[in-house]
Amino acid sequence: MSARWLDDELEDADTLPERPHKHKAKKPLGKRRLATLTADPEGGDETDDLIRRLTDLGHITEVVAELKSGKEATAYVARGPRGSVLLKLYRELEARSFKRDGVYREGQVILDKRAAKAMQGRSRRGLEMLQAGWVTAEYAHLWHLWRAGLNVPEPLVGPDPYDYAQTTPAVLMRLIGAEDTPAPRLSDAALSPEEARDAWNQAVGGMADLLRLGYAHGDYSTYNLLWWENTVTIIDFPQLTTRQNPNFKDLLRRDAESLATSFRKHGIQADAEATLREVQRRAGGQGPKPRVLLP
Ligand SMILES: Nc1ncnc2c1ncn2[C@@H]1O[C@H](COP(=O)(O)OP(=O)(O)OP(=O)(O)O)[C@@H](O)[C@H]1O
Ligand SMILES: [Mg+2]
Repeated sequence: MSARWLDDELEDADTLPERPHKHKAKKPLGKRRLATLTADPEGGDETDDLIRRLTDLGHITEVVAELKSGKEATAYVARGPRGSVLLKLYRELEARSFKRDGVYREGQVILDKRAAKAMQGRSRRGLEMLQAGWVTAEYAHLWHLWRAGLNVPEPLVGPDPYDYAQTTPAVLMRLIGAEDTPAPRLSDAALSPEEARDAWNQAVGGMADLLRLGYAHGDYSTYNLLWWENTVTIIDFPQLTTRQNPNFKDLLRRDAESLATSFRKHGIQADAEATLREVQRRAGGQGPKPRVLLP
């Protein structure tokens, strides 16, 4: 079946939200010392407080640079006791859309009725809970996938949820790349034809690894894949969904489609439906070797 058929099907599935992020490339804003960062009026007091809190908790020693400011989050390069850190700071509550995040959370049961109501009503408390939910979801997914041996950044707080809940609204993970040259996204990388095939192969394999564990990424494309030393690393997990989600199949299919589409600029001409089948075939095979966590 053709990609066109897929488009129709996807358009019919109007329960699907727009992709979580507008993929507009932004230039890195360059190095900014902690002093300038905290003096930045745009950063606001909340950013100051957070950075102080993370420093007091011993997770970071310094913020080195703002890497990328997006719609949902701002990414900073920082230093910590174990090396370079990528600090993903979720947006101010009011500025975030959260609009249709319900689609990703469908099938999840919120046991606390009052919490569920607050989240639905989008009260300040409800928004805070939603934001905390995205942060803890991203940590939990990173831990699970990291332990399962997938190519994802190593989470740097946890695995105890008590510990990582304290870094809200930020997620701390290992920086892929080097401090002064963070890994580019595959969407920004210049690849030789051979590298493009290798990256494509790894990207399809990564999606299969996720599916084998019962997950659809929910925003799978070269915009959320990093390229460093010939290795593809998958990022951006808050919207990961499971088979419990009634939209699972549609999200999976859409991921295959956006993966195929986003690789066209690298000269890979893959059909969305064929990509999905290949992902499903590989998901039936053996997965990567799990990582053992040392105490
Ligand atoms: N572990 C990492 N190492 C290096 N760079 C990273 C890492 N994680 C994220 N990034 C960079 O930060 C950017 C934002 O991260 P992510 O995709 O998780 O957030 P987002 O919500 O999609 O934000 P945006 O709207 O800016 O894309 C990525 O596009 C990537 O360039
Ligand atoms: Mg992203």
